[in-house]
Amino acid sequence: MFEKVEEYPVDPIMIGADYFAQDPRLDKLNLTVGIYQDADGKTPVLRAVKEAEQRLVETQASKSYLALTGDADYCALLGQEILGETWGRDWVAAQTSGGAVALRVMADLLAQMPDAPTVWLQTPTYGNYIPILQAAGARFRQVPYYDTIRRAITFDQMLDGLSAAKSGDVFLMQGVCHNPTGADMTPEQFEALLTVLEARGIVPWIDLAYLGFAQSFEADCAMAQQIAARFAECIVCITLSKSFGIYRDRAGALFVKTGQADHPRMHRAISAIVRAGASHAPDHGPSVVREILQDQKLKDLWLQELDQMRARVAQVRADIAQAEAEAFGTRDLAYLAQQSGMFSLLPLTERQETALTRYHGIHVVKGARVNVARLGPEDIGWLIRAVHEVVTAPS
Ligand SMILES: Cc1ncc(COP(=O)(O)O)c(C=O)c1O
Repeated sequence: MFEKVEEYPVDPIMIGADYFAQDPRLDKLNLTVGIYQDADGKTPVLRAVKEAEQRLVETQASKSYLALTGDADYCALLGQEILGETWGRDWVAAQTSGGAVALRVMADLLAQMPDAPTVWLQTPTYGNYIPILQAAGARFRQVPYYDTIRRAITFDQMLDGLSAAKSGDVFLMQGVCHNPTGADMTPEQFEALLTVLEARGIVPWIDLAYLGFAQSFEADCAMAQQIAARFAECIVCITLSKSFGIYRDRAGALFVKTGQADHPRMHRAISAIVRAGASHAPDHGPSVVREILQDQKLKDLWLQELDQMRARVAQVRADIAQAEAEAFGTRDLAYLAQQSGMFSLLPLTERQETALTRYHGIHVVKGARVNVARLGPEDIGWLIRAVHEVVTAPS
């Protein structure tokens, strides 16, 4: 019977690693990875995480099931930390298995609503949104967000696209360090976007994946807080995979702000969706996060380590801009220094992107997404020369 199973498209980020492994060359560079790496190409366990794990080994008294919405203390700590003064009785919260499940639970909930709203997405955006929305059966449409060749956010086109949205529709956007573009809206653009959403009755849905990688953990929470301060109803999804470096431990959360009268029903709806899908969220990663957030010394250590990751990524970006100016006197990649987070898009056509891999051994995610955190000092010149050559090569 399984011969009838059809071909499934696989996320380009996942197959990037396979293509890289199949490349027989020794001098090849894998910029497809979706995780933070230090200058040695390692993704070490943070010291604060190790210390919290040690404490858990010594103190954890039970591994029994928790509620379907997870540990209320974890949700409350995270809520206070991320939503600041806007956190409180207006929120329904659930611990989830990383950010992907928070997104999926919300997508299921929206798809199952009578008169289901349309979810509006930025293009390009995180590559897993569409598979998640499709798997849930949610309705979605796209608006332009970024022009790769111009290296600029297409803000006006995004707003124009949203003019087709109906009141009660949902706009799914990202917090800082937009994946895959690295291009975040200016504070003025963000304010203007919220004004449009508010005026048109569109519900904001923000997905926070890189808190601490743009300016600081505290500053990077501002977008979610601005939304929460302004909207009676909004959705916040969080993954802690990157901020704590606990990718495989699956810590995330879903927060929905809504009127008190909706709370018991929303709580039951989220519980039922969780039960029928991922079921109980894993506990280890979230418990590590809770230990760290509860203890000022551990929290300080974690924030220091997060700052180091942020500083490294910012430094690599600055180094690329400087090295390009020195090597070629050009500023084609200077925009990278203005963007933030691990990812950016190279301003390449499809043909140039193929040439980058074929002739220079540099592997990127389809659409020319690169992970700048993968670049060591000796790789920067390689990337700049390769981009310069593919861009200037006769077509
Ligand atoms: C924007 C965005 N949202 C959500 C996620 C999902 O994170 P997780 O691995 O915790 O499911 C990612 C992961 O890369 C992401 O970049």
